[in-house]
Amino acid sequence: MSDKKATLTYDGKTIELDSLTGTENETGLDITKLRAETGLITLDPAYGNTGSCTSDITFIDGGKGILRYRGYAIEELCEKSDFLETAFLVLYGHLPNSEEKETFKTGVNDAAGMPSDIIGHLNAFPKDAPPMATLSSLISVLAAHNTDDLGVAYEGESFTKPLYTIMAQVLELAAGQYRVNIGKTPNTYNPELSYAANFMHLMFSEPGQPYEVLPAVEKAMDLFLILHADHEQNCSTSTVRIVGSSQSNLFSSVSAGIGALWGPLHGGANCEVIKMLNSIYNDGIAPSDFVAKAKDKSTGVKLMGFGHRVYKNFDPRAKVLKVQVDNVLEALNIDDPLMGIAKELEEMARSDSYFVDRNLYPNVDFYSGILLKALNIPIDMFTVLFAIGRIPGWIANYRELHTQGQRIGRPRQIYTGSALRDYVDLENR
Ligand code: SDX
Repeated sequence: MSDKKATLTYDGKTIELDSLTGTENETGLDITKLRAETGLITLDPAYGNTGSCTSDITFIDGGKGILRYRGYAIEELCEKSDFLETAFLVLYGHLPNSEEKETFKTGVNDAAGMPSDIIGHLNAFPKDAPPMATLSSLISVLAAHNTDDLGVAYEGESFTKPLYTIMAQVLELAAGQYRVNIGKTPNTYNPELSYAANFMHLMFSEPGQPYEVLPAVEKAMDLFLILHADHEQNCSTSTVRIVGSSQSNLFSSVSAGIGALWGPLHGGANCEVIKMLNSIYNDGIAPSDFVAKAKDKSTGVKLMGFGHRVYKNFDPRAKVLKVQVDNVLEALNIDDPLMGIAKELEEMARSDSYFVDRNLYPNVDFYSGILLKALNIPIDMFTVLFAIGRIPGWIANYRELHTQGQRIGRPRQIYTGSALRDYVDLENR
């Protein structure tokens, strides 16, 4: 708490509200006693002005375009770290020493190996089922196969066992479903490979012909996952927290997060960006004409991959991805016209008062789709990759929620429906 207080006067009654100032001088008013002392609640649909918790995990400064995991700048982690090390940092709050790093990697590796009858689930889905639907289901199915790991835990083996199971088997489930859908058998997790390289192997290796993961591809996938590892109390992370707050298990909380991330306004935007760029390219639409449509509310068209609830400046992840995409396209000798269109759209939007006045800049999804396309990831799996990257952040928030001993989440409402009225028999309606 800070010593500064707010005074609230309503209907002749005045109360004082404590305030809390965080590490980076963000201040929140503590209204935990508001209803008990005044009968009043606050109203903030979509929670644009409401803090649901204190957190030590991630810090975003939307005005300055800053993103830090546990105090480390995302740019430095992208340059010097790797995804599993970043996952450990996000989960436990410090960079692992050599022993911790090895233990974490071994824990994930040893947890690989989908339950044998999972293949029945993979075969049971329609071949054209949306991958986010099957992934959300399959993570819940893991709860059925790990019934000893359904308790609430945030330390020791009770926590690490489901953590490692989800982190290892999410790769096998996502890639296995893809391969079953194209009539191939799932590949086996290779503990000799990095986490990022393993996913590419699980997706694209063929019997007797292991997929050769080029260093540029491995680095690009690893960096993509680092950039998606966590992002404060976004829609899907808040979903994981609220489900976890009921003391539901880690599998069901992560599965719920996948459902929330699927939405096109959230993680689903990376697919929508590519569909938008493809339509501009294939239909020969002038980028300037598309930008004009995105400004015209009556069209219902948005410049997907642009705008953010928190960033009112460049999303630092978009900056890193834009450079990485250029590197990967060059390393793989790919000339993707969509990149040129994306850059043209960005240039136009950044000099257009509609976007400038609304602080609309490229977000993490604007360039990430072009990167994943260059890595031959199917478009309908782009958000699956976002989910795989975000799992350490979701689980870190689940863990933090329980270390804080937070009560079950249960927002209030202002009722605006009918007042009391008597039942009317059918014949009289
Ligand atoms: C992610 O929260 C997170 O941290 C999320 C995320 C994470 O890592 O977890 O960063 C990942 O979800 C990134 C966002 C991906 N979504 C998209 O790219 C979809 C396109 N963007 C928009 O739908 C929108 O910008 C949101 C959803 C991202 C933010 O929505 P807000 O904060 O509710 O903002 P808003 O809709 O109120 O927009 C404010 C104004 C409106 O115009 P006015 O009413 O002021 O005239 O900006 C306009 C909006 O119409 N606007 C856009 C626009 N985004 C906002 N106009 C055209 N194109 C856009 N993309």
